[in-house]
Amino acid sequence: MKIIRTKAALRTLTDEWSRAGQTIGVVPTMGALHAGHLSLVGEAKAKTDRVIVTLFVNPRQFNNPEDLANYPRTEDSDSVKLAPFAVDVLYVPDPDQIYPDGFSTSVSVSGVSEGLCGAARPGHFDGVATVVSKLLLQTAADEAYFGEKDYQQLQVVTRLAQDLDLKTRITGCPTVREPDGLAMSSRNLRLGEEARKIAPVVYHVLTDIAEGLARGASLSELLPDARQTLDKAGFGTLDYLELRSAQDLEPMDSAVRPARLFIAVWLDGVRLIDNIPIPSA
Ligand code: PAF
Repeated sequence: MKIIRTKAALRTLTDEWSRAGQTIGVVPTMGALHAGHLSLVGEAKAKTDRVIVTLFVNPRQFNNPEDLANYPRTEDSDSVKLAPFAVDVLYVPDPDQIYPDGFSTSVSVSGVSEGLCGAARPGHFDGVATVVSKLLLQTAADEAYFGEKDYQQLQVVTRLAQDLDLKTRITGCPTVREPDGLAMSSRNLRLGEEARKIAPVVYHVLTDIAEGLARGASLSELLPDARQTLDKAGFGTLDYLELRSAQDLEPMDSAVRPARLFIAVWLDGVRLIDNIPIPSA
């Protein structure tokens, strides 16, 4: 696996691959790789001739400077985790390769980026959409793989790839969970021992609501119990617990068409997000 830090060096390689008629699969990451990321890498390896993993902690998608400062930076151990996959390139762009002096462009996706994390983290999805556009162009990606754990991000990226006529096809891959149900996330590393034991309650709250919806209850009928369970377990602020259409993220109260149930809640100073599919009743 080559480690490349400039877009010029990367372009030499991707031009060579394109001339040879090889397809390029890309897995964009901010590092601190876990089994969820590695499942995306496995998917890319299975589907494309060449695989690039990108590692860039993107300052423009953090609305909180403390969150950015605390974000784990683990390039060496990430390289070790990628070794068994025989990835072609780990692209770790120097910051000026993404945001050179004078950089003044922002990609902003309306609709699907509104509400949920878009409301709780102002500017977050503009930062994501801008960096993902750049990474997909710099890597000449034919295919790119994103986790459904960040389902709203997946919708934002799918929309921007269509709207900007990028050649990249976007694929969403299922959330990978710990045996106790907690969705894998780089942020889980920041949970203290006690909080880590409590964290799977997030997933259980979602699955309990899913059962209630399947019985014909509405979300507003099920919310008070869910809030109580979270409070009792010791969670902090609930940013949102919402049912939205799976396709366009329109708010819903019962699953009259395929939906997703979304949650963002604080625990031990860490913001946990998760979502699950809800089939239409
Ligand atoms: O999901 C992430 O890790 C990031 O939001 C992404 C897609 C790599 C953009 O910085």
